[in-house]
Amino acid sequence: MKISNMMICVVALLCGHGAKAVSQPRLRSDNIEQVVKEMTLEEKCHLVLGCGMGFGREVKFPGTAGSTYAIPRLGIPSTYCADSNQGLRMSAHRDYDSRDYYCTDYMTSIALASTWDKQAAYLVGKGIGNETKEYGLDWILAPSMNLMRNVLCGRNHEYYSEDPYLSGTIAAYYVKGIQSEGTAACVKHFAANSQETNRNANDSRMSRRALRELYLRGFELAVRLGNPWTVMTAYNSINGRLTCEDGDLTETILRKEWGFDGLVVSDWNAGKDATLSMLAGNDMLQPGQDRQFDKLMEDAKNGRLPMAVLDRNVERILRFVVRSHSFANYPYSNEPNLKQHAVDDRVIGAEGMVLLENKGALPLASGCQVALFGSTGYEIIPGGTGFGGTMVGRYTVSLVEGLRNAGMTVYKPLLDQYRQHVAAEQKRLYPNGLPSFALRPLNRAEEIVMTDLQVAETAANTDVGVVVIGRKSGEAADRTRDEFNLYEKELTMIRQVSEAYHEAGKKVVVLLNVCGPVETASWKSLVDGLLCTWQSGEQVGNSIADILSGKVNPSGRLPVTFQNKYGDAASDRNFPADVKDTKDLATMYMWGNDKQNTDREPKANIDFTDYDEDIYVGYRYFDSFNKPVSYPFGYGLSYTTFAYENAKIDREGEKYIVTVDVVNMGDRAGRNVVELFVAAPRNKRLGKPAKELRNYTKTGLIQPGRRETVKLEVEARDLASFNEKESAWVVDAGVYHFLIASSANHIEKALSAKVDGMKTKVNDVMKPTVKLNLLHR
Ligand code: BGC
Repeated sequence: MKISNMMICVVALLCGHGAKAVSQPRLRSDNIEQVVKEMTLEEKCHLVLGCGMGFGREVKFPGTAGSTYAIPRLGIPSTYCADSNQGLRMSAHRDYDSRDYYCTDYMTSIALASTWDKQAAYLVGKGIGNETKEYGLDWILAPSMNLMRNVLCGRNHEYYSEDPYLSGTIAAYYVKGIQSEGTAACVKHFAANSQETNRNANDSRMSRRALRELYLRGFELAVRLGNPWTVMTAYNSINGRLTCEDGDLTETILRKEWGFDGLVVSDWNAGKDATLSMLAGNDMLQPGQDRQFDKLMEDAKNGRLPMAVLDRNVERILRFVVRSHSFANYPYSNEPNLKQHAVDDRVIGAEGMVLLENKGALPLASGCQVALFGSTGYEIIPGGTGFGGTMVGRYTVSLVEGLRNAGMTVYKPLLDQYRQHVAAEQKRLYPNGLPSFALRPLNRAEEIVMTDLQVAETAANTDVGVVVIGRKSGEAADRTRDEFNLYEKELTMIRQVSEAYHEAGKKVVVLLNVCGPVETASWKSLVDGLLCTWQSGEQVGNSIADILSGKVNPSGRLPVTFQNKYGDAASDRNFPADVKDTKDLATMYMWGNDKQNTDREPKANIDFTDYDEDIYVGYRYFDSFNKPVSYPFGYGLSYTTFAYENAKIDREGEKYIVTVDVVNMGDRAGRNVVELFVAAPRNKRLGKPAKELRNYTKTGLIQPGRRETVKLEVEARDLASFNEKESAWVVDAGVYHFLIASSANHIEKALSAKVDGMKTKVNDVMKPTVKLNLLHR
């Protein structure tokens, strides 16, 4: 696409040799300004653009996302980047190369956040950072951390939570883990990229308060606590301006207010006007296009793109380059410790599984005979699809294998029947093989309809019925209302299996091998055990079996509400939940804004989405408006029970310190999550959520009868709400309730403290350009 590096090198050697060669600097961390001065305009315009994605040509790391431009004459090497938050996304095989390059398939982000364990996030980040480094790359395009505004967003498996504090803190530790290896993290997609439908052109329209308190807050925490080297802007617009062309977002808020001093990069092929992106401080456009190069050259010459701006962006890129493994010529091994990373995936995958119901069904008796029902039971899903999904690298441990590893038997007649059925369904759905960028692979598989007699016979011959429900989603398409609900045949299967097993005096357990919440309210009373396994990477079968067998005591908590039905959440009113017309799907818009369908009136939820629910997303809505849910945010059971004793609150300056003893009251060792919500005094003008998560922690393994004292700190300034009139974060003076909880709906201990008022002014930017019909409390 551009003059190759080689050419530049040759030209430089031929023409530049002589007078310049002597004085020509080579890039070091302390001569960046001097190197920028040496660069030609062409070189600068090349450097701010990526080098393409490498489809159809030989590249150094096949199957990765791209690289940065090299200028050998100035000692500027290429650096290399790859997706994703589930693991290094790179082809395992290369042309003309007989060895393989497998990477670890880790758990989905939603599964990681369900651990509520910052150290787990650190460890996964570190593993991915290490694989990136040991395979010779520099930069991992993760974490994705958009707020789960709606349960149907296709990329929710890549995101952490409906709560910005949980999202931001998990992201920060994940970033620290990556960067502890000297690999760059990339916090994305900045910001409010809450749907996939028409993602390149959708305008997220919202109040400044929702923007600040929810959609930016998680990023702010990730930036302040995690110090990522890079941030990726998004495809969408916010309040009428593309995020990669909006200096208020990237220069004013991200850099000036939050102190970010790294590199800002666009999402792949995002944006319309390269010059506007440069002006906005979107330092690099990836993967780079010829027309962007031409535009930058032209605008640099005609003055629309001032040299000072181009130099500033170039300088930031060079500051990134000098930190890279490539710059240091790191002697990578091509042999990361995949064995250890698989162990981490297994342990952390299990820690993120959430036990939703247990009427004496779990753990299963050792050596029991399991009847597995449901196609997904035989085709377990390790992760999502799209660039942020799983690669299915060297292997996926199936559920059958996991159960067998745990000493259980999987009922053979059913297994044989499902083997045939799954193969036939795959052929029916994908006659030409599974597409590599597969959308919803088995979601549309039909379940087997069995006779009652058949199920009764199976129940008679086995110890427990385990029904597996699967949902897969990913980049470029949102889920639909139909997928949120269980399909008729799935419901029939659950009913039939429950009846037969209960008739036989046996238990039924349902496993949700899902990418995000599904409907559970209408059928959960039929079953004895319900485990949300999420999608936990290559070790998924082992992780599930570890929970079912009791080897691991469940300790995951929901990072997102399981609502009773679709339509219950305030954001459901403004989300493309029923898009059937493929013209509106994002797939067609994946590679650029110029391909948009513009010959029609702007459509709600397609071309723009009104965030009318305002700050009432997830539990902030259900909790504040007293709406019942199936399972609340923060919920999850254990095989033991915990008591909370000696709760107290102390104040140290502007800091509130809550301490509580967690006591294991049962007969199994277990870990517990302590959630701290804070309820602010009522403020009629502003309207406050009933309570908000302000801190949390996870205990170590507590033995039966033993206790652990946990300490949770909250800074007074973090209790602020955003006041639009004053454009300030305002902490109202008054009595605040500090609620130690085991879910948003279950308060264990309530404490209170007087808090002084305080105010922090910020820039009044990113206002909505239309009138929104905002929800008030
Ligand atoms: C995705 C990003 C990803 C990039 C590069 C885009 O389609 O939105 O998350 O990092 O592609 O693969």
